[in-house]
Amino acid sequence: MRKIITLFDLSKRELDYLIKRSVELFRGEMPVKKLKDKIGLIYFEKPSTRTRISFEVAVIKLGGSTIYSTDKDTQILRGEDRTDFARVLDGYVDFFICRVYDHRALEIFSENVKKPVINALSNLSHPTQIISDLATIELLLGKYEGKKIVFMGDAKNNVARSWIEALEVLGSFELVFSCPEGFEPELKSGYKIEYDPLKAVKGADIIYTDVWFSMGDEFSPEKEEKMKKYAVDSEKAKYAKLVMHCLPAKKDKEISYDVFEKFKDVIFTQAHMKLYSAISILESIDF
Ligand code: CP
Ligand code: NVA
Repeated sequence: MRKIITLFDLSKRELDYLIKRSVELFRGEMPVKKLKDKIGLIYFEKPSTRTRISFEVAVIKLGGSTIYSTDKDTQILRGEDRTDFARVLDGYVDFFICRVYDHRALEIFSENVKKPVINALSNLSHPTQIISDLATIELLLGKYEGKKIVFMGDAKNNVARSWIEALEVLGSFELVFSCPEGFEPELKSGYKIEYDPLKAVKGADIIYTDVWFSMGDEFSPEKEEKMKKYAVDSEKAKYAKLVMHCLPAKKDKEISYDVFEKFKDVIFTQAHMKLYSAISILESIDF
């Protein structure tokens, strides 16, 4: 594997392998020291608690090292051409892990380097999150195949989009979006849309939610009002085996305090899985 800009960069076999390898690593299998003498640039234009730190730890565990940089402390701040930016950095490090606002900026970067690139979140896609979340489902429910996953909230966001990418690549689970009209996904695929949240959660294995306003989104009181019906509260949560949240959460917005606390072990297992999925991804890079 040379890049993960979206999950469409992976075959079904590769994605399934990463999910299952993440679970093995979570259970204590030793990582392959794949990154000895390799240096990765962690380039983030947005904040991160989980993705950045789990990837940095994963690189160290695999015997490599990282440099952290942002748009604010590079000449990107002053408008350096992104093509030049990529071509220069390609000569310094061995691989890239990048979080950007504009997905196109990531594509430009990837098109102009020869080294592996991993998308650590863009406005369009958050592929590594879904690799990790499918591994959490595999760990907690035995297998991800055949499960009914109900995504509640802003189905236009990056995490929702990567769920669709995973469905397209794997095709082996059921995906339902429950969202207000006007917030349906743009990417078409084999998922269902159920506008009635109580109908959507019937028979769900997993209820999954994310913030109503992603990084870079402008707050809108009208959107918040429409989203309230899709908040994961105890009335909806009682239908599911697991409630998952990629974090960070806005409690008492997309998820109630009581549901968050009830499912905290699931949600923090999900957060901790990010380390093992980062290791599985980095182990699989072809240099
Ligand atoms: N879930 C996730 O990507 O979290 P961070 O923004 O903290 O990396
Ligand atoms: N949709 C959220 C995910 C954060 C991990 C965002 O982009 O802010």
